[in-house]
Order: sequence, then C-alpha cells, then structure tokens
Amino acid sequence: MKICIIGSGYVGLVSGACFSELGNKVTCVDINKQKIENLKSGIIPIYEPGLEELIKRNVKQDRLQFTTNLSISVRKADIVFICVGTPTNKKTYNADLNYVFQVANDIKKNLNKYKIIIMKSTVPVTTGDKIENLLNSKNNKNKFDVVSNPEFLREGEAIRDFMYPDRVVIGTSSKKANNILKNLYFPLIKKTNRYFHTSRRAAELIKYAANAFLATKITYINEIANLCEKLKVNVNDISLGIGLDDRIGSRFLRAGPGYGGSCFPKDTRALLSISKKLKTNLSIVKSTVKSNDSRYKYLLNRIREILKNKFKGKKITFLGVTFKAGTDDMREASSLKLIPYLNKKGSKISYYDPTGIKPEFNKKKVIYFNNIQSACKNSDLIIIHTEWNEFKQLNFNKINNKKRFKIFDIRNLYSPEKMKKNNIEYYSIGR
Ligand code: UGA
Repeated sequence: MKICIIGSGYVGLVSGACFSELGNKVTCVDINKQKIENLKSGIIPIYEPGLEELIKRNVKQDRLQFTTNLSISVRKADIVFICVGTPTNKKTYNADLNYVFQVANDIKKNLNKYKIIIMKSTVPVTTGDKIENLLNSKNNKNKFDVVSNPEFLREGEAIRDFMYPDRVVIGTSSKKANNILKNLYFPLIKKTNRYFHTSRRAAELIKYAANAFLATKITYINEIANLCEKLKVNVNDISLGIGLDDRIGSRFLRAGPGYGGSCFPKDTRALLSISKKLKTNLSIVKSTVKSNDSRYKYLLNRIREILKNKFKGKKITFLGVTFKAGTDDMREASSLKLIPYLNKKGSKISYYDPTGIKPEFNKKKVIYFNNIQSACKNSDLIIIHTEWNEFKQLNFNKINNKKRFKIFDIRNLYSPEKMKKNNIEYYSIGR
C-alpha cells in the first residue's frame, strides 16, 4: 500500500515507521522544514525507544521517506492518515481542530483518485462527518472515504503497542474502506483477531471513553491511596487485591503523582466540553479532572510535612522530571508545578533525567546534573519523581554523602521496610 502520513509528530512518526516496517511505502509529511530536514539526516525529534533504529532501517530500505510536499504525497497515496496535533483550546477546553481542517482542505485539492482518509488524531465525535462534508464536491464523488482509526499508543511503549495492539478500531460505513484496512492491519491482527469494525462516530467516542476511563482508574487508586495513608494500609496491596478480579484488572492501578502527559489531561477536558455542548452530565469524568488537577497540592502538602515546613536552604533533588518514564515529554508533568513552588519557598533544586531533558526552570536556582550521584550529593530530600529502571535499585547511602536525608518516593519504587533497615527516612504514596 502507498501511505501518506500528514503530521510527523509522535503519532505520525511511530505509525509511519511501523507501517513501513510492515512492507508499505510510506511518506511522512510535515510543514516544519527543519523537522523534515532533520529526519532526512536521521535526527529524530522525539525520544521513543526503538524509533530511531526503525526509521533508519526503513529509510535505507527505501520504504520510508520524509517531505514537506503534501500535494505530491497525497496524490501518490492510496491511504492518507491525518496525524496532526489537536491541542486544547485554553478558553473552551475543546480540541483545537484548526490543523485538522487545514489539512482536510489541502487533501481536497489533491483527490486525483480514490483514497481512504483516516483520522488518527484524537478529535471530537462528529469531526469525521465534518471532514466528509468538507471533502464532498461534484468532482470528488466516490473518490474518498473518511474513516476514524484512533490510536492507543503509550509514549515510551509506542512501537510495542503498535505492533501488538490490544485492538484495532476502525470506524466507517464503507465496506470497501473496511476491506482495504483489514488487509493493511492483517499482519498485526492475524493472531488475535482483535479487529473491531464499528461506526465512525463510535470509533471517535471509543478513544475518548478509553482515555477517560483509564484516567478515572488512576484517580480512583490515588484517592484510595489517600485513605490508605490514614489507615496505615499499603495501597499496593489494595491494587493487587482488587486487580486480581478480572472485572477490574490490575493495570493502571499504580498510585502516584496523578496522570500527566499530552493525552489524558487533554482528552478528559475535551470529553467534558463535548458533553457540556450536548447537555449531558459526565459527573464521574468531572470529578476525575478536578481530583487530578489538585493532586499536586496533596504532593506539596506531603513535602511540607516531610520537611517540617522548613523549605529555606534545603537541597531537594528530583530523580526524573518528565511526566512518566520512557519519554522526554514534559507536558503536564507534576514537576512543573512542584519545582517552581519549592524554589519560591527557598529550596535549592537539583535534578537528573535519563533523557537529558532540561526544561525551562530558573537555570540559576534549578540545576541539572548529568548523573544520579552528582544530583543527589548533599541532598536533604530526594524526590523519586519518575519510574525509570535506573532509579529502581539505588544504594542511596552510597550516593548521598549526607548522614541524614529523606526520600519521598512518589512512584513507590522501594520497600519501606528495606529503607528502614538502611536507616533512611523514607516516605511514599499510600503506605
Ligand atoms: C495514554 C494511553 O495509555 C494510550 O493508550 C493513548 O493512546 C495515549 O494516552 C493517547 O491518547 O495518545 P500516555 O499518555 O503515553 O498514553 O501514557 P500512559 O502510560 O497512559 O500514562 C499516562 C499518565 O498516567 C502518566 O502520567 C502516568 O504516570 C500515569 N499513570 C499510569 C499512573 O499514575 N498510574 C498508572 O497505573 C498508570
């Protein structure tokens, strides 16, 4: 199949690289010239394990290329994926669809033969209908089908999620498009048969409903963790104990700093905005958003207690600053709220992140170190902020030369009992 991917961001690049690996001819398009130049010379704009190798291999095999020329790429393609960003509109919390419609207009000018136009970006329900209306004209009759095919890729695990999907959701009423797409995805679904064909609107809603459900699951366990702290019960036991029930399932029950990233915060808000428009009360999602938005206050309170309200002059080290491990993505990371606050209170912050990312903190007061040891040296409090493997088996007494120091493990990576044995004042979440 000849595939054109419009938008060479996270979703576009991963999908493009994986489709080319499956033997398709893929062209990834972007309006950002610098990005395309970089990609052509093998510089990948995001950190995603395995992506660089995959891209390089498929470029070499001549199955994957990059360009800024949308017209030629669309004209050559049988299938066009729209993978552009849909950021949250800061006033309405709606998904901003400017890029999507801009691209749809460009596609309209280049419908030289039948093509399947696939929405991969997360868009509000009925966006597919709007794109179809936009593309419709006398000349374009029977030349396209607009399909919704939401992505379920986790940052840091995207290639695995793409190659071994829990399910592939295809939303279309066109038999022709459905048959072609079943064929396209055949190598991924032949073993599991998890190909789910539904209406376009249902596919659009499945994406939001899935993300809002997972966000709710995380928020639920975070609130249970708050209760565990009062009851002196270990929240990990609760996660295990309830997760063994197949109806609940054990995944996404890790208590922590609250969900961040580009997807859950954006999609839960967009879902609320859709429901408001349609005068439907999604009270559970509302509570989830509210609870998660205030999670950082709970974390700050804990830090206040741990430091006995003495912030001034204290050296605090962050191990990891991104919203989760396996990514260099800082969007809605709790560190963005915690670090400036602690800084303002007079603490000195040092941090280390395995990706080498240096966010825009006050560079004089928030110091980046390129290794764990230097970042932790002389620390009064070490905050384990993300769950990278390299943080999981540290000998803190060796790393930190201070005699007395504290650890706040907001990912519950360590055993409180072991920490006690090692004479370390250790705090974690929900236990
Ligand atoms: C999420 C979904 O998992 C993907 O299926 C979806 O395709 C993607 O959004 C998207 O809409 O594009 P992602 O944002 O990459 O993927 O990250 P997750 O691994 O889902 O984690 C989201 C947040 O929840 C992170 O802040 C993470 O630390 C937190 N989390 C996750 C927990 O606090 N506890 C958990 O048990 C799991």
